Parts: sequence; structure tokens; C-alpha cells
Amino acid sequence: MDSQESKRRIEELSDEIRKHNYQYYVLSRPLISDQQFDLKLEELSKLEKEFPELSFPDSPTRHVGGEITKEFRQVVHKYPMLSLGNTYSEEDVRDFEERIHKLVGDDIEYVCELKFDGLAIGLTYLDGRLVQAVTRGDGVQGDDVTTNVKTIRGIPLKLQGSGYPAEFEIRGEIIMPHASFEALNRQREEDGEEPFANPRNAASGSLKMLDSAEVAKRMLDCYLYYLPGPGQIFATHYEAVQAARRWGFKISDYVVRCKTIEDIFDYINTWDEGRKELPFDIDGVVIKVNSFASQEQLGFTAKSPRWAIAYKFKAEEASTLLLSVDFQVGRTGTVTPVANLSPVQLAGTVVKRATLHNADVIKELDVRTGDTVFVEKGGEIIPKITGVDLSLRPAASLPLLFPTTCPECGTSLIRREGEVAWVCPNETSCPPQIKGKLEHFISRKAMNIDSLGEGKIEILYDNGLVRSPADLYELKFEQLIGLEKVYPGEGDKKDRTVKFRDKTVENILNGIAASITVPFDRVLFALGIRFVGETVAKKLARHFGSFNALRMAESLALTDVEEIGEKIAQSFRSWLETPANILLIENLAKHGVKMEFTEVQSAQKSNVFEGMTFVVSGVFEKFSRDEIKQTVEDHGGKNVSSISARTSFLLAGSNMGPEKRRKAEALGVKIMSEEEFLGRI
Ligand code: IVH
Repeated sequence: MDSQESKRRIEELSDEIRKHNYQYYVLSRPLISDQQFDLKLEELSKLEKEFPELSFPDSPTRHVGGEITKEFRQVVHKYPMLSLGNTYSEEDVRDFEERIHKLVGDDIEYVCELKFDGLAIGLTYLDGRLVQAVTRGDGVQGDDVTTNVKTIRGIPLKLQGSGYPAEFEIRGEIIMPHASFEALNRQREEDGEEPFANPRNAASGSLKMLDSAEVAKRMLDCYLYYLPGPGQIFATHYEAVQAARRWGFKISDYVVRCKTIEDIFDYINTWDEGRKELPFDIDGVVIKVNSFASQEQLGFTAKSPRWAIAYKFKAEEASTLLLSVDFQVGRTGTVTPVANLSPVQLAGTVVKRATLHNADVIKELDVRTGDTVFVEKGGEIIPKITGVDLSLRPAASLPLLFPTTCPECGTSLIRREGEVAWVCPNETSCPPQIKGKLEHFISRKAMNIDSLGEGKIEILYDNGLVRSPADLYELKFEQLIGLEKVYPGEGDKKDRTVKFRDKTVENILNGIAASITVPFDRVLFALGIRFVGETVAKKLARHFGSFNALRMAESLALTDVEEIGEKIAQSFRSWLETPANILLIENLAKHGVKMEFTEVQSAQKSNVFEGMTFVVSGVFEKFSRDEIKQTVEDHGGKNVSSISARTSFLLAGSNMGPEKRRKAEALGVKIMSEEEFLGRI
């Protein structure tokens, strides 16, 4: 394909993909299958790589991310980002409506909307192209998060249709849908990372990440609800947001016009109940005056518009009896107090258990067995105890004591510096830690032995057949056949029997045997070392190439690797100090599990940079940042994050900070340009 033809094809594909993005992410009405969509995206991405001069900043491939932000630039809002007057009382809503009525007269119309529980964002479009995205910040200025926001597929990078102003801002809320939130937390728990407390925190944490490719994986979403500023081209807010929908923005389907206070209360009541069915969190509804002329007449107070009010739903709460507290030991040894409650109806489900988080929370609440406690299901998926009804406390109650020894293995618990959790340090023989580690080892992103899921590890453990992941590779058909266990069903769920029949055992043994082809980075992740999640494992594996090299590396060399900090290095070193872990590595290697990274070698194109380390900085013409780093590695070099006297080259693009150059010069580190780099490879 020549350049002319490619240009035409790129434009054609971009338009098609944009249309399908809109159908899928905005209208939730896909016209083609995911597979067909991926094929188009792949074709476009390939063409853009081949003809970089035809890759535009508003191409739909940009939703994938890849650019790294060093620091979020502060941007002053063109119009201050105000908040809304909040209320929890129907009385206040009535007062609001009466006041408006008095000021504007009888001919008044309202718009009721959902109040999204996320974080506010202002998007600026210039000639139909997204040019800036800024968070609320302190209302006067916020963070420029454009690079990250571009990865949100429901946000158009280029508008469709016509009639939009040449330059305008539109505001909305970035949210994390429940499905994305649950998947993210599951992953974090698997990686030994602290889960996010609720979707709002998760959305806000995601938007502040420096690597936009990581943001892209978080599956955020964005609803738009406000076009600020004077010079409106429409007469009403309703018309404005409906037009915005035609330009490609995601506007809620539940924006409705109302006339009377009864209509408003109907809307409130519908959503106080209906919110439980929504795939994302809302924390109330917003009532706005529809006509822009009336809005202008009403104006603003210092903090909020007089033409709108937010009615917030009360967090759903119930009170019930605390029967007992279990202290659960997780895969990493953390002991979590979990309350057993007298079953109570809350937010559409029956709640029997609630988390008490840690020892500090128990102390703060002074919660005791036999207490009547308040349980809340706010943004959190797992209910929590928020307080105690002291008037109902039994006379003879005693403060709840956090155990000093592990409830599972009796080892004395420890508390690491700066952390709130009590931890059982007996990593190698505490049963739930062993089982947890085995489950992690076989999990999909680790060794992917899926024939061993769903309670089978527990059976192997209970029968004394496995204590360490290496034992899996010793299992024999005769040991497994006929094993079984009945898992009792809860409530109206039936009991579940897991039985090892011929086919099951065959699948298990085949799955284990096949796992020796899993690449080294995933093996490293599978070991379940604290703080060594999927990404960290990949970085370490790529950098060092083998377990032996990693083992020999000084702590300093570990922190040289990009994004590997002291905390990870420390955790890795202390893992190595346990003899059982070294034995595990030796045994796994003996069974053929990969302890070397072979992908680098196969992908390697030359070894011109063998033994050299690079710090990559600035913007490059022919490569994205990730691409140039990959190229360094493909030619035998290594990437490190900060310049030291041991660094071989500072690979400098344009816009590199002066600090980096100064440091390189001071330490005598050679500076290499993109041209020189291209020459060498
Ligand atoms: S309109 C001038 N509409 O709630 C104020 N805000 O406390 C314009 N929010 O800052 C805001 N859903 O972050 C508006 N449908 C909605 C909203 C909404 C959520 C957030 C927004 C705002 C905060 C107010």
C-alpha cells in the first residue's frame, strides 16, 4: 500500500472505529462483535506504525495509552469548578423549589439527573478535538490529566455531527463501573495489594497514575452533565445535553424534565430504590433549573449555583446483633477481623458478615460481642460496621481482644513498621497461607493451571499431598483418583461435591505438566512474593533475565529498575533469606519450571547495547517511550529509571527536563540523541 492509499485507509478505519466506539461505549448498542472490532483496531494500529506521519493525536488507537506523565501540570479553570448545595432533607428540596418559584415565576421547568459518585472533570474541545482534561482540584485550578483521560473509550477524542462551538468546555464525572471495580480489586488481592475501598477512590487513584497504558486497563467511564460558561447556543440545559449526546458524548438516559415538586419527589424516590440496579454508584440526584435565561437570573453564590441543588441519599444502614468475630488469615499472613452478624436485610441483600478491617478499627469503635451494631453499605461492596448502639450494650460485656498469636498456627503475630495490619510471619507452614499461595500459584495470570481451581487445591492440601507449589509436580494418578470433598451450600444453595474422577485427574496432571512452558516472568509472579505483582515481576524478569541473576543482584541494582522501589527490593530480599524459598526454587527448576527469561533472547535483534544501561527521557520522533525502551532491550541494553554514575547513556528526546541533562553532565554520563541511537541499531 502506498502512502496515499494508506492515508485513505487510515481515515476510513478511524471513522469506522469511532462510530463503533460510540455505539459500544456511549449507546451500549454494539453493531459488530468484539473480535471484528479488534481486527479493525489492529489494522489501524499497524498502518500507523508503518506510516508514523499519519498517526494523529485524536486517532482511536490513542485510547490504548502508552504515554507517561512525569508530573500533572496545574491548570487554572476558565470557569471555576463550583460544587452544588447538598441536602439530605426533603424539606430543603421543597424550600429550594419554592424559592425558585418565587424568583422566576410560574412558568418553570426543572431537569432531574443522577448524581454520579466519581470525580469531576472538565473537557475542552477545540474544533471538535479533545485538547485538555482537568480535574476539579481546589475548584480554581486542577491537574491536567489529558493523557490519561484520552484512554477512556466513552470520551470522544474527535466529535461527530455538527453544530458544536469552535471552542467549548463540557463537564462531567469520571466513574468506575462496578464490574471494573470488582475485577480490579480481585486482581489487587491476588497481587497482594491493598484493595480500593470503593469505586470512587479507585477511579480517582486510576486517573492519577503516571502510565496511561495502565489507566487504559482500568476501564473507567465518563458521564457528561454540564456545559459551563455564558454564550450558550441553546435555550435550555436539556437541549444542550441532548445536542452533546449527538456530538458523541455519553449523556445519561435518565435526564428528565419535570414541572412540579411532586415530579421531583417521584424522581428522587424512583432512584433511591432504582440505584441498586445501576451498574455504577450514584449518591443522590441533582435538580437543575432548565432554562439558561432563568439560570442566569438566579446566578451563583460564592460556592454554588442558585439554580441547582443536590439531594443526597442516606447511606443504607441497618442495625443488628454482633454474634462473634473471626480472625481470618490471608495468603500474605494478614489477620483480618470479620464480624458474624445476626442476618439483616441491607441494600437488597441479606448481610451476615461485615469487615472490621484491623485492630485499630476495633479499638476505635470499641465494638464488643453481644453489641447491637450499625452496618453500612456505602460505596463499599463489603459491608462495614460503623458504630455501636451503646444504649443496648449488655451489662457484662468485655472489650474485644485482638489475638496475639495466629488463630491458625499459633505463631506470634507481628506488626510491620508503618502498617496497621497484624501479620502471621509463619509464611512457610501456616495452613491458610500455604493454601492461599498454592491458589495464587495456579491462578490464571500465574501458572494458569485452571484444572486445579474450584476447591481442588483444598482437597490436595487436606489429604497431605501438597505443601509447596513444587509438590504439584510430584503428583501421581494413583494418589489423586477417587479423592472427594463435599462443600456445604449456604442458604438455599445445594451442597457441592468435588470428586476426582479419571477425566478430572487426567486434566489436572496435563495442566500441571503444561505449566512448565509458562514464561519466567509469570513464574516469578506465581511465587507470591509480597509486592511482586504482575507488572513488577515482568520488569524484574526482563531486566535480570534469570532467577540466578536476580538472586545475585545487590539491593541497589534492584532499585535501579524502573518503578522498583525500596519496599519491593526489601520484600524480595527478605523472601530470599528464607531457606524454604530457595529450596522451592531449586525444586521447581528441577521439574523444568522456567527460571530464565527466554523471550528477550528470541526477540533480541542484536547485542550492540550488551552490558549498557539507559535512562530514557523526553519525547521521540520515531518511537513512543515504551517502544524506544523495548528497542533498547531488543538490542541487549537495560533500562533504569534514574541517572547514576553507572548509567551508560542518557537517551534524550526533545522536551527533556534541564535537571536530567545537568545531572548527566555532572556524573559524566554520555547523552545519546535519537538519531545516534537509530544509527547504532
Ligand atoms: S452539575 C455548577 N450534575 O457533584 C455545578 N454535578 O457537589 C455543576 N455531580 O461538582 C455541577 N453528578 O462533581 C452536576 N448530574 C450532575 C452531577 C454532578 C455528579 C458532582 C459534580 C459536582 C458535585 C457537586
